[in-house]
Amino acid sequence: MKVLGIETSCDETAVGVVEDGRRLLANVVASQASFHAPYGGVVPEVASRRHVELLLPVLEEALRQAHCRPADLDAIGVTIGPGLAGSLLVGANLAKALSYAWERPLVAVNHLEAHIYANWLLPGDPPRFPALCLVVSGGHTELVLMEDHGQYRLLGRTLDDAAGEAFDKAARLLGLGFPGGPAIERIAAGQGRPRLRLPRARTRGAYDFSFSGLKTHVLRLVRGERGQAPPAPELAAAFQEAVVDALVARVLRAAEEHEVAEVMVVGGVAANRLLREELSRRCPLPVRVPPPALCTDNGAMVAACAWFRLTLFGDVAPLDVDVRPGLRLA
Ligand code: KG4
Ligand code: ZN
Repeated sequence: MKVLGIETSCDETAVGVVEDGRRLLANVVASQASFHAPYGGVVPEVASRRHVELLLPVLEEALRQAHCRPADLDAIGVTIGPGLAGSLLVGANLAKALSYAWERPLVAVNHLEAHIYANWLLPGDPPRFPALCLVVSGGHTELVLMEDHGQYRLLGRTLDDAAGEAFDKAARLLGLGFPGGPAIERIAAGQGRPRLRLPRARTRGAYDFSFSGLKTHVLRLVRGERGQAPPAPELAAAFQEAVVDALVARVLRAAEEHEVAEVMVVGGVAANRLLREELSRRCPLPVRVPPPALCTDNGAMVAACAWFRLTLFGDVAPLDVDVRPGLRLA
């Protein structure tokens, strides 16, 4: 059973094709990063207009790579939230049109759940439950216990900035490019263990996160409020270490308390090398992290998720389904 997955929740225009929920046939992503870079962040109005331009060529390329004609597809999955309303609408409307024209079921997908299902696209055995999922992206930082397919318990979330957002804001303060995560990672590389130690936030909920204090601290250092500003590579390395430390500490604690079978890390920030290395080094359980192309927003993860929703739960959305910018996972 072949499923098409459409993803336009933020600034990546993406379409993927997946067979039986696990076999990747195509994954085409048109990044809009260069359009948003001059603004230092995603501009919603720009993002939705670019989706309109890019989505059909991306769809055609995905079908070409998958060697699929429309008649070969069995269902259409699409992200309906969370995300930017205008961006979501572009993908949702294409998905509805295709579902109507090709007479295939439409499956409405939660973007965060789709990130988690990127793990089913990895070769080898599928993930085992209960699994602890760290969802770390530009818009979200959530620690979720996945007890089974479709069963999620939110253990903690960020109280202010998402981890990726913190990377993006810190990068801007350091005069680096957008997106900030890869830019910070690049200039921090080769720094070794930073001597500078930035503060770690304490949160009342044991598994909640907070990154806005860290960002303010970087701002003060950059402005020279604490003496001469440290060089950008050292600050970047210290910042990256502080974020990774906060993420890893909570994952380790939650994994132990909830006796999970394994840990999954998903979302754009999961592409971060230090995070991947620290988790594999410090976590006694198997840690699953998709390769970077499946960590950042993509259509294949949406297709995989849609296949599970359709085959396990018979989830089919009506053609008047609305987008839900504030949709939650649990
Ligand atoms: O999941 P994603 O592609 O889009 C959202 O749903 O938000 O995540 C994008 C976020 C951006 O904030 C970006 O700076 C961050 O992921 N990111 C990284 C890395 N690659 C992307 N953060 C840290 N290290 C990276 N290598
Ligand atoms: Zn995402």
